[in-house]
Amino acid sequence: MLQDIKLHLDHIAIETPQRAAMQEFYCKQIDLSIVGEGADFVALEGRERRLILVDGKSQKLRYFSIASEDEADIAKARDLMAGHVEIADISGAFGSEGFCFTDPDGVEIRIVKSSAPNNTHSGLPGRLQHVVVASAQPVEMGDFYQNVVGMRLSDYVLEEDDSLMASFLRSDAEHHSFAVFKGDMAVLDHFSMETNDWNDVRDWADHFATFETRIFWGPGRHGVGNNLFFMVQDPDGNKVEISNELDVLKDDAETGKWGQGYKAYNLWGEAAIRL
Ligand SMILES: [Fe+2]
Repeated sequence: MLQDIKLHLDHIAIETPQRAAMQEFYCKQIDLSIVGEGADFVALEGRERRLILVDGKSQKLRYFSIASEDEADIAKARDLMAGHVEIADISGAFGSEGFCFTDPDGVEIRIVKSSAPNNTHSGLPGRLQHVVVASAQPVEMGDFYQNVVGMRLSDYVLEEDDSLMASFLRSDAEHHSFAVFKGDMAVLDHFSMETNDWNDVRDWADHFATFETRIFWGPGRHGVGNNLFFMVQDPDGNKVEISNELDVLKDDAETGKWGQGYKAYNLWGEAAIRL
């Protein structure tokens, strides 16, 4: 259980069957640059955001790395997790050192010491902040992240029959660094980049418009997390979220419960397109 160690999302690795097209999208539209390359992967970095594209399936999250700048935190985390999950040491991309284990859906979680903040890049502000997966076993996944990993459950959403639809989990003060949605199978749902203010959200939308990349969902304000948002899709159909004003919570904040209905997902309404 890592409850007392503050960890933020450092980078994610997405599988793709069309690495060239994905690389072009992320370099041109998300303002990332190539900082490493291998036979089956490319490492991309931009303004407070890092991403690995690795050859594989579409819409599959290979792993995500959560990090602390403090090496002692990582050593402590390793000790805390060692008795509960099978762990392996890693020396990964972007100079990250740490250990990893896998969740019930086979997604690898890497807990690493983060290298220096990469905030010197040009481009629009957008700090990689959270990643969300869909799962056919949302209860088991939510339980694992809450009770084995030790993330705090900020909010959850129930279906009409009271079955679990979504769990939003935090690994530091920000409302969620990870979430699990109920789905047909284990896939990447989306990842999010947190901006500095609402004008940045406008500027990102204008930026995507120059590429004729249409908004997939939004703009709106999520009920869960209270953040302003919109989403576009990359060439594989992964949703990329631009966000601002995500809630910050105290450690002992009460878990919120949401029913079905539009408010959990968008307080402004369904935001259907008028044709
Ligand atoms: Fe999100």
